[in-house]
Amino acid sequence: ADIYFFFSGLIGRSWAMVFAAGGFKVKLYDIAQQQLTSALENIRKQMKELEKSGFLKGALSAEQQLALISVCTDLKAAVEGATFIQECTPENLELKKKIFGQLDLIVGDNVILSSSTSCLLPSKLFTGLKHVKQCIVSHPVNPPYFVPLVEIVPHPETDPSTTERTYALMKKIGQSPVKLNREIEGFVLNRLQYAVISEAWRLVGEGVISPTDLDLVMSDGLGMRYAFIGPLETMHLNAEGVSNYCERYSEGMRLVLNTFGPVPEFSGEIVQKVNQAMSEKIPVIPKVLDARRKWRDECLTGLAKLKTQMKSD
Ligand code: NAI
Repeated sequence: ADIYFFFSGLIGRSWAMVFAAGGFKVKLYDIAQQQLTSALENIRKQMKELEKSGFLKGALSAEQQLALISVCTDLKAAVEGATFIQECTPENLELKKKIFGQLDLIVGDNVILSSSTSCLLPSKLFTGLKHVKQCIVSHPVNPPYFVPLVEIVPHPETDPSTTERTYALMKKIGQSPVKLNREIEGFVLNRLQYAVISEAWRLVGEGVISPTDLDLVMSDGLGMRYAFIGPLETMHLNAEGVSNYCERYSEGMRLVLNTFGPVPEFSGEIVQKVNQAMSEKIPVIPKVLDARRKWRDECLTGLAKLKTQMKSD
């Protein structure tokens, strides 16, 4: 059977769980044995909890899924038999380049070398590698177990078959892949996210709205529909189609858009203001933050269920 191999860590663990849920054999690799031991413990704990609450993905039991995951601290042994390698080391260009350089020397011509990077461009990561045709970025969204989107970003020299195989694999394990035709800073998800964050920052900074109310505009307003339809379909449905939307609203949109300010500094007083407002609700204490993250993941699981249900209806 094909083997999927991941570097451990927060994202690596999550990937491993997604693949094991799909019934795939998974190898976890790390330089530190301790990281692997804690990864396995943590995955076991998460799977058991998910099973108990009825949120475990896939058709297999937690024990069956755990049996699919093995660990390894030897890179050569980890690569052995792997058809797809997902690198999940810290977001550091030099480190990642070093690792892809090592992999380049020991992999065959068929394995896909994929990176989880959230902002390093493929041209920075993969240029000069012998196996550059087999290299690609598969950028997940945290936490990938609950949020299915994966941005697939090729290097200019990536073979189209690498892109197609990665896309098909992501589909197969139940993730939701999207293909970028070329690399761009921030890929697509973070470009959209930063557009929202920067306007949120300006509105709060200019005192138009409080930080907590700003968040409500998203969670109880825009976000409600964005979980099901994107901004372009929103235009389509909010008028008699996109052309009609543009006829009706383009002038108004441009008027508003022209009042957007420059890129914020994200420093000084506004940081304090936003931090204080957020900390009143969620104090910056590891235990409290973790509890809130857990609640977020439960919400996302519920939403994922609802989305599946709405699709089949
Ligand atoms: P992490 O710090 O939790 O995990 C990194 C792992 O890499 C650790 O287990 C560490 O021991 C291991 N490691 C360090 N040096 C290594 C080496 N030379 N060889 C093998 N393993 C090594 O980091 P995290 O958050 O999982 O991020 C990993 C990647 O995923 C980054 O590129 C990040 O940008 C990307 N990503 C992270 C998201 C997030 O929200 N955390 C979301 C999407 C992508």
